[in-house]
Amino acid sequence: MNSMMKDLAPYPATHRIVAVRHDARQVHIAWDDGCESTFHALWLRDNCACDACRHPQTLERTFLLIDHPEPIEISAASVDIEGALQAVFAGSNVHQSRYDAGWLRQHCASDASRPERQAAPTLWAAAQLLELPTFHHPDIMQDDATLASWLRALLEVGVTLVDLMPNVPGTVPALAERVGPLRSTSFGAIFEVDSKPDPNNSAYTALGLELHTDIPNVPYPPSIQFLHCLRNEAQGGGSILVDGFRVAEELRRESPGDFRRLASEPIEFRFHDAQADLRHRAPVIGVDQGDRVTEVRFNNWIRGALDLAPDRVEAYYGALLHFWRLLREPRFQVRLRLEPGHAIVFDNRRVLHGREVFDPATGGRLLQGCYLDREWVESRLRLLARRG
Ligand code: OGA
Ligand code: ZN
Ligand code: ZN
Repeated sequence: MNSMMKDLAPYPATHRIVAVRHDARQVHIAWDDGCESTFHALWLRDNCACDACRHPQTLERTFLLIDHPEPIEISAASVDIEGALQAVFAGSNVHQSRYDAGWLRQHCASDASRPERQAAPTLWAAAQLLELPTFHHPDIMQDDATLASWLRALLEVGVTLVDLMPNVPGTVPALAERVGPLRSTSFGAIFEVDSKPDPNNSAYTALGLELHTDIPNVPYPPSIQFLHCLRNEAQGGGSILVDGFRVAEELRRESPGDFRRLASEPIEFRFHDAQADLRHRAPVIGVDQGDRVTEVRFNNWIRGALDLAPDRVEAYYGALLHFWRLLREPRFQVRLRLEPGHAIVFDNRRVLHGREVFDPATGGRLLQGCYLDREWVESRLRLLARRG
């Protein structure tokens, strides 16, 4: 552990502090590569990692800013012998704090540094994804470097293929659990996709499945979806994958008005069977504060009845159909046939998946699936990074 900052994540000393200036409210740091960082007194005081301010075992903050009503002012700032920043806070509660240079650099809040910390996905259409990023199951299970490469591809591209999977049920949940705990849904933690006699979901039929995202009918749909093919002897049943973020950007380009409608108007999604009636209202396209696309919810068979003023219905359907037509354009679609021993693993909150109709009379088709939330992918990568 980097004990000084009580932060388990590595913060390598990539740069040296060459000069420190301060006034009562701010510390300015000049780095050996010419960059400059400014840290506010409040921010520095709040992030002191000494044993009085941050718990030595939990590593969590015990300092209570609210109990320090006097102005927080810096009376001294300098670089110590180890290259760390030393700051003294004046007032009735004089306090001395130390901050590792690597940690400060990692938290540099300049306009150049903040965007660097935002991971941007690589969007794709069919031409950019002639082959899915492919990883071997035994390597992922045995080798941490392969595990890390696979997870990075999943976050960046949103879809991967895992091959050489043992052809036995239980393999795919064990793969997911190498990353984090399974996410249970109304279909259980582990589900079998085949043509069932009494289906409660279109996937459990032999029907073709229009491009969709799974389970948009809850506030936080499962993100990473695993589908492991155990048998596929039936005619038909090909798989289709589309980068929903890429198509949302195309919609924005072609019609900013249609994009805005889908990004702002919540609509209902609903799943109901004998055990559950789960409904949620959310826009088809989710965006963040910077208007970047962060989520797609699209599923025709569990889309609820629109609850819109009649004079907005036509414009809404127009926007939805525009997006839908784009999703159907072959230039955005990656098509493959799942073979036994293959699993597709994709970000269900970004990548839409679909299935061609199949004929169960021509042979069996069986997938086993499960879900994992994306934060566990990020968490596993951070744990792997701790070991360097
Ligand atoms: C699903 C699904 C696709 C398939 O189970 O959610 O979309 O190929 N299945 O059966
Ligand atoms: Zn402290
Ligand atoms: Zn599905």
